[in-house]
Amino acid sequence: SHRYRIAVVPGDGIGREVVPEGLRCLRAAARGHGFELDVTEFDFGSADYWVRHGEMLPPDWREVLGGFDAIFFGAVGRPDVVPDHVSLWGSLLQFRRGFDQYVNLRPVRLLRGVRSPLRDHGPGDIDFVVVRENTEGEYSSIGGRIFEGTDRETVVQETVMTRTGVDRVLRYAFELAAARPRKHLTWATKSNGISITMPYWDERAAAMAGRYPDVAADSDHIDILTAKFVLRPQDYDVVVASNLFGDILSDLGPACAGTIGIAPSANINPDRTWPSLFEPVHGSAPDIAGRGIANPVGQIWSGAMMLDHLGEPDAAAQVVAAIETVLDEQPEVHTPDLGGSATTEKLGAAIADEIARAVAS
Ligand code: NAD
Ligand code: IPM
Ligand code: MN
Repeated sequence: SHRYRIAVVPGDGIGREVVPEGLRCLRAAARGHGFELDVTEFDFGSADYWVRHGEMLPPDWREVLGGFDAIFFGAVGRPDVVPDHVSLWGSLLQFRRGFDQYVNLRPVRLLRGVRSPLRDHGPGDIDFVVVRENTEGEYSSIGGRIFEGTDRETVVQETVMTRTGVDRVLRYAFELAAARPRKHLTWATKSNGISITMPYWDERAAAMAGRYPDVAADSDHIDILTAKFVLRPQDYDVVVASNLFGDILSDLGPACAGTIGIAPSANINPDRTWPSLFEPVHGSAPDIAGRGIANPVGQIWSGAMMLDHLGEPDAAAQVVAAIETVLDEQPEVHTPDLGGSATTEKLGAAIADEIARAVAS
């Protein structure tokens, strides 16, 4: 049987609470589908590794992690211990760049059993995917400060868009749209105000659209797109955007679909030169960390995306189905973000049981 080598990085805060539930569900899926998970855990977080070493990762992290089949990541961020830009540029953002995970795939679905905060929207009404550029754009380290401490103090940070970088994520998004029933793609820009990089993105997207005549492609400025997500989320299928715009849309989308606690993501290196990384969209949630009440579904669903990437699509589909069945049929295991009062462990265990049940039947 297949044996997959998985590097697990729980990280900080609720990352350490939801990752065990993700693993519990992955193990249930593995037992049912005849493959094995060989898990190695790494303590690359702020409260442990950073405190001992003054950095988030060992210098040879690329060798340490590069040989795994995938990375299963929780969240990083302990702003009380280390500034966020230091911890995130020291870990997650390094992985995305160093392992060339240039696609960040973030599905948004309104699941059965989950209530949208939007009026008149029920299960099935919201079903789209945010495809976020994940290695360049607004997340650049080009820039700096001059005249510090004077009244001429000036701060600059450049946005970087390369033809390769823009085209490859657009191509991925168009391929994805072409494979979905609705074959609809929207790209998000802000070309009226950001007058150099954003018109460039429009130009590349229009050129790519010409190569996919079966895909209905259109574009929106990011500002009105956020409004339309709230007013007409049912209109979207594949939404592709730059690094920052994709980041914003991928918190807004899940909030429209009930809670960011269920949102998954896949940081993909489509060339498969390096491991891809699977993590929930949410962060370490310091406001609820340590209380055992975080929703583990984002982590579990990210695990399903990992199984799909590893070549276990049946197991992946079964995990997603189990999530939806449990949310729909067992309101008593809903966590507080879903309006319930159950613990992380209770919801995780219910989903793992449902996976085992579905496998047996
Ligand atoms: P956050 O996602 O951690 O939390 C935002 C809000 O959503 C909080 O009220 C939190 O309690 C709630 N929430 C998040 N996940 C939840 C879950 N699974 N169940 C229930 N409620 C949940 O975002 P933030 O507050 O902007 O950031 C907190 C820390 O996390 C910061 O250090 C930030 O840099 C970091 N962060 C890390 C990642 C990552 O590692 N991928 C992502 C986002 C933020
Ligand atoms: C995300 C997070 C990260 C990002 C932060 C923590 C750097 O918000 O994965 O969405 O902006 O990419
Ligand atoms: Mn984000």
